[in-house]
Amino acid sequence: MDDQRPVELAKGIYWVGVVDWNLRDFHGYETPKGGSYNAYLVVDEKIALIDTVKAPFAGEMLRRIEQIVDPSKIDYVISNHVEMDHSSSISTIMKVAPNAKLFASSKGQSGLSEYYKEEGFHDWDLTVVKTGDELSLGERTLMFIEATMLHWPDSMQTYVKEDALLFSNDAFGQHVATSKRFDDEVDDVIEDAGIYYANILLPFGSQVLKYVEKLKEIGVHPEMIAPAHGVIWRRDVSKIMTQYLKWANGETTPKVIVIYDTMWGSTEKMAMEIVEGARSAGVEVRLRHLRKNDWSLTMKELMDASIVAIGAPTMNNDMFYTLSGFITYMKGLRPKGKKFFLFGSYGWGGGAVKGMEKMLESGRFELAMESMQVKFRPYEEDKKACREIGYKLGEMAKENANN
Ligand code: FEO
Repeated sequence: MDDQRPVELAKGIYWVGVVDWNLRDFHGYETPKGGSYNAYLVVDEKIALIDTVKAPFAGEMLRRIEQIVDPSKIDYVISNHVEMDHSSSISTIMKVAPNAKLFASSKGQSGLSEYYKEEGFHDWDLTVVKTGDELSLGERTLMFIEATMLHWPDSMQTYVKEDALLFSNDAFGQHVATSKRFDDEVDDVIEDAGIYYANILLPFGSQVLKYVEKLKEIGVHPEMIAPAHGVIWRRDVSKIMTQYLKWANGETTPKVIVIYDTMWGSTEKMAMEIVEGARSAGVEVRLRHLRKNDWSLTMKELMDASIVAIGAPTMNNDMFYTLSGFITYMKGLRPKGKKFFLFGSYGWGGGAVKGMEKMLESGRFELAMESMQVKFRPYEEDKKACREIGYKLGEMAKENANN
C-alpha cells in the first residue's frame, strides 16, 4: 500500500488519487515512468468526489478519503470521463455512499449505463449535465464543461469557480509516477506532458483548439489545473495552455526523424547514412530503432518533426512486423504537417517498401520523394545515395517546417 497522505491543493480541496508505480503499459502505450489516477475531494457544506481511480486501487483511494471525511458522507460523485482508469471504482464508491448523487455528461451517462449495468448502474441517482451547468456545494460552486474528444466523446471537466481551479481530467495529464503532486516540484513536466499528448490527444487537435476557445467564451481562466494523470499545474498555467495550442496546431520544426528496424543490419546501415546526410544539412536529427525504443517516446519525437524517414527490411514478402505495427499506431494518431520517405532492404522478392507505401497512402500521408531499396546489403554507391537523400531530406525539413 502507498502510504502517501492526501494533499491539499486549496483550502478544503484534496488530491485523493493513487500512484501506479508499476504501470508500464497504458492500453498499449509504453509508460516507462509509471502513472497516477488522480481523484479529488472537495469538502464544503456538501462533499464532492471528482472522478475515481482504476478499480484495483479503489481501497487505497478510500483509505485516503477516510483521512479527511467518512466516505459514506460523500454527497456528489462527478464522473468526468467513462474510461475505466477513472470510472471503474464508481460502483465501489456508490456502495460506500449509496445516497450520493452522480453527475456526468449525456454521453457519460450512456457510457456508464453500458459499462456498469451489472454493477448497479440502474440504482444510481445520475444527473446529466452540460457546459455551463452549476452545482453549489455551499461556499463553492462547481461548473461543468464538456470537453468532447479530450479524450473520448463523453469527456467533461469540472471548474471550481471561486478557486479558479480546473479539474481537467485527461487534458494536461502526464503518465508519471511520483511522490510529488505539483509541477514546480518535478523536472521535465512539459516533456512528459508532450509524450502524453502525442499518444493520447494527437488525433484531436481541432477539438483541442475549439475547447480552448470555449474556455475563453465562457469566462474560464484557470489559475490551477488538476488533471486526472500526473502532477497538478500551479506554477504558470499559461505555459501548458500555450504548449497545447502549439501541439494542436501541428507545429513542426526543421527536424528529421529516422525510424527503422533491421534484421541483418542492411536497413540500419541505410538509416545511419540518411542520418549523416540530414545532419550535414544542419537540421536536428533523431534515429529510433523500433525494438530498442519505446514507441510512445518515438511518437513524441515524431510530433514536431517535419520529415519522417521510415525503413524496413523485407520479411516473408512484406515489411518487418514492427513497421506494420508502428505505422498502424502512427496512422491512428494522425500526425500533421509531415512529409515521409520510405526505404528498406530485401534478399529476393522485396515487398517491405511497397507494403509501407500502401499503408501511408491509405493514411493520406505525403511522400517527400521516391522510395529507395537495396538488395541484400548497401554497397558504397548505395551508402552515398542514402547520404545524398539524407541531405535532401534535411533541406526539405527546413522548407516544410512551419515554425
Ligand atoms: Fe485517462 Fe481517457 O482516460
